[in-house]
Amino acid sequence: MGAELRLVYSPGQIAASVGTLARRIGQDYAGEEVVLVVVLKGALFFAADLARQIGLPLSMEFVKLKSYSGTSSTGTVVITKDLDGPIAGKHVLVVEDIVDTGLTLQFLLAHLNDQGARSVKVCTLLDKSGRRQVEVAPDYVGISCENRFLVGYGLDFDERYRELPAIYELIP
Ligand code: IMP
Repeated sequence: MGAELRLVYSPGQIAASVGTLARRIGQDYAGEEVVLVVVLKGALFFAADLARQIGLPLSMEFVKLKSYSGTSSTGTVVITKDLDGPIAGKHVLVVEDIVDTGLTLQFLLAHLNDQGARSVKVCTLLDKSGRRQVEVAPDYVGISCENRFLVGYGLDFDERYRELPAIYELIP
């Protein structure tokens, strides 16, 4: 039996949210240089759209963490791809697709703070704040969402559905 996809956020709703975030970030970091630390693979499309609209000089780094298997968090986080360059003294903005339990973000923030960044903030497209297991609060949130499993616009289920231009709830 195939899974059913139910539309939750349309491409237009996503674009509006990305535009609002980019404007806020552009204003808050005006006159500064920022390093976007993009969390692969999920934040790929979001980061590409966001970065092109911030309107400030920026650089991009990519990290990859592993914490998930299927639809439930395992609670363990490991870095499988780290930063390529130093971030000491720089303003770092983490770009996440979704914050769920917060475990991934908590681990990543500790890792970035250890490296002497001048500031570390977080921008996430989606926030499932009701599912939090640890206290982390993203500085920029595009859309606060309910506890349901979402796919599309970078979000996957076992590596599928990332390429969809909208965000859907996956109903098994
Ligand atoms: P956390 O560590 O529980 O906050 O999980 C963060 C990561 O879990 C995200 O970066 C996603 O890769 C994945 N994740 C959490 N919720 C969803 C979802 O609804 N769909 C797809 N991936 C999700």
